[in-house]
Amino acid sequence: MPLILTILVGYLLGSIPFGLLLARANGIDLRSVGSGNIGATNVLRTGDKRLAAATLLLDAGKGALAVWLAMRFGDASAIPVAAGAAAFVGHVFPVWLKFRGGKGVATLLGVTLAVLPVAALVFGVVWLAVAVVTRLSSLGGMLAAIAVPATAWGAGRLDLVPWLAGMVVLLLIMHRENIGRLRAGTESRIGAKP
Ligand code: G3P
Repeated sequence: MPLILTILVGYLLGSIPFGLLLARANGIDLRSVGSGNIGATNVLRTGDKRLAAATLLLDAGKGALAVWLAMRFGDASAIPVAAGAAAFVGHVFPVWLKFRGGKGVATLLGVTLAVLPVAALVFGVVWLAVAVVTRLSSLGGMLAAIAVPATAWGAGRLDLVPWLAGMVVLLLIMHRENIGRLRAGTESRIGAKP
């Protein structure tokens, strides 16, 4: 597969809105729950932990799969992390939802796991630490995401840094409403009543 095809496949994989589909299959309109976001954090607000875990796994899995497909079937022109970035963009701007998708935390985790597992480990540790201390999923997601290109830099994988940093910038932009709520002290905490 040439680069362009790995990117197209990555985008289409990333654009599958698993949270929305799983919630809908269970009779829930995720857009009318909590933040209205299609990610695992908002699925958790429905009270269904298994559905939230499945959303996290599938949203991360599609990012990892996009990278793996590019590694496995890409020709010399293919850049696996570019396919992962395409999946990330697909998640955030899915053509099926008029380009109104999610915020990219789980998909970035999946892409990271596939391109640099140690950075995914750092992501997990940072997210967990922030979540345990503050119970703020959005804050955990943003700080964990920032740690990813920083870890790639530290690991000497400078080829990955622009791709990962680009995804993180988009992830932070998608969290602008969360940032506003964090500053105002009104962001909902994990486990809080919606
Ligand atoms: O993964 C998205 C998370 O960081 C924030 O989600 O629903 O609280 O806006 P939400």
